[in-house]
Amino acid sequence: MNSDLIAPSILSADFGYLMDEIRSVEPYSRYLHLDVMDGHYVSNITIGMPVIKALRKHTDMIFDCHLMIAEPERYVKSFAEVGCDYITFHIECSDDPRALLEEIRKLGKKAGIAIHPDTPIEKIYPYLPFADLVLIMSVRPGFGSQSYMEGSTDRIASVRSELDRIGSDAILSVDGGINVNTAAEAYRAGARLLVAGSAVFGAEDHGKAVRDLAICALQ
Ligand code: DX5
Ligand code: ZN
Repeated sequence: MNSDLIAPSILSADFGYLMDEIRSVEPYSRYLHLDVMDGHYVSNITIGMPVIKALRKHTDMIFDCHLMIAEPERYVKSFAEVGCDYITFHIECSDDPRALLEEIRKLGKKAGIAIHPDTPIEKIYPYLPFADLVLIMSVRPGFGSQSYMEGSTDRIASVRSELDRIGSDAILSVDGGINVNTAAEAYRAGARLLVAGSAVFGAEDHGKAVRDLAICALQ
C-alpha cells in the first residue's frame, strides 16, 4: 500500500479526541491534511497556529496545511514556525502568488497553491513552476462531506498535463468528495495526493478506510 497517496483531513475528526484520531491514521498515511479557515475567505472557522503547534509535539506526520484564509501573506511565517511542512494558500486570496510561493520556500517549507472550483483552471498555470504542491479543490471550500464536483476530473487532467509539460515534479493533490467511488477517477486523471475527510473519519475503522481508499484509487 502506498502510504503517500491519501492525506486524511482532520476536519471530519472528533476534535474532542484529536490526537487519538490522528493516531488512528498514523500507521497508514504519512500525510495529515490540516484545514485552516478564517470565517472570511470561507464562512467556516476551524483551527489555527496554537492547535497545529500542539499537534506538532506529538506526531512526525507530514503536516499538509491548507490555508483557506484571506491575506495569507500575513500568516505564512507563523504557520512555518509552528511546524507545517507544506503550506498551501488559495490563488484567489493573494495579489502576488509567485512571491508568496517563493516566500514559503525561503522559510524552508514546501509551497502549495490551491484553486477554487469556480476559478478558471488556466489561472494557476503561471505559478506551477514555483509550487511544490498544487491543490485542486473538487468542492467549494469551507465544509466537509460535500460531493465531488463534476468537472474536477478534467481540471486535474489539465493541470497534470501542464505540470508534465514544464517538467515539474510538484505533488498534484485533490480535495473534496474523495471516497471509494471517486478516488480512482481522480488518480487516473493524475492526482497523486488524495485528501479525504469524511471518507476516513466518518468510517468506523479509520485505518481501514485509508487503506481501502488507496486500493480503490489504484484500481
Ligand atoms: C473542505 C476542506 C477539505 C475537507 C474535505 O473545504 O478543504 O479538506 O476536509 O472533506 P471531505 O473529504 O469530507 O469532502
Ligand atoms: Zn482541505
